[in-house]
Amino acid sequence: MPSHFGLIGYPLGHSFSKKYFEDKFKKSGSLDTYNLFETEAAHSVKALIKDNNLKGINVTIPHKQAVIPLLDNLDRSAQLVGAVNVIKNDGGFLTGFNTDYPAFRASLKSWLDNTNIKALVLGTGGASKAVIAALNDLKIPFQQVSRTKSAKTITYQELLKNSDWIIEHNLIINTTPVGMTPNTDEAPELPYNLLTPSHYLYDLVYNPEETVFLQKGNNIGAKGKNGLEMLHLQAELAWDIWNT
Ligand SMILES: NC(=O)c1ccc[n+]([C@@H]2O[C@H](COP(=O)([O-])OP(=O)(O)OC[C@H]3O[C@@H](n4cnc5c(N)ncnc54)[C@H](OP(=O)(O)O)[C@@H]3O)[C@@H](O)[C@H]2O)c1
Repeated sequence: MPSHFGLIGYPLGHSFSKKYFEDKFKKSGSLDTYNLFETEAAHSVKALIKDNNLKGINVTIPHKQAVIPLLDNLDRSAQLVGAVNVIKNDGGFLTGFNTDYPAFRASLKSWLDNTNIKALVLGTGGASKAVIAALNDLKIPFQQVSRTKSAKTITYQELLKNSDWIIEHNLIINTTPVGMTPNTDEAPELPYNLLTPSHYLYDLVYNPEETVFLQKGNNIGAKGKNGLEMLHLQAELAWDIWNT
């Protein structure tokens, strides 16, 4: 009996997940299906899972927080991040998970070859919350950077004014959409001239594969990584959740 999966969000347009899972089904000769449910109504998720007999569903923007009160249970990953990107249906009992967080943690951990790390996290949106949960697990101290000053954040202007921020923080993680297609000529406003070959630049953006942010680091000899591995890992983790 084939199982059915899908993605809820709005707008959906091009979907990495649909192609990823359909390729996976094809390779294994499975008749499982993966469909897109493009809707502005997060509250429809329960009916949608039931009506389409879905075993699991991915959740994307703008519903990652809105689905939380509709679920029967929240895994610790979703509780820590405060957002759900995977729902598992166990005979009508719905549990929410966050696989961005363990995916980023695994990807970062296997990439870093230095234990003396301090991070700057650019952006304060949903993706930054997954990144921060991972940094906390890995005991990596961090400072958040935002366009807006707050008790927890410094601004890009402060980074430009005080060179110590970049000198003292050797890992810079871009969790903003800046540089993402179609705005591929943009990059976060950083004093790139202060980067050194000892810096690590991790961009959650995966399209294009090499953003201007990563190019600027690469020009100086800094190590760079895009969001592709994280993207694949979060999908594989969802698959494991649905099938255990
Ligand atoms: N690789 C993966 O698996 C993966 C997983 C999740 C997300 N992502 C990528 O991560 C990125 C962010 O996702 P998200 O859901 O967190 O997005 P989001 O909530 O729309 O934006 C994240 C934060 O970026 C900052 N920001 C937004 N526009 C900006 C601009 N023009 N200039 C400077 N800062 C800006 C904002 O923080 P401030 O207001 O504090 O400045 C915002 O809260 C997207 O490109 C997404 O595709 C990748």
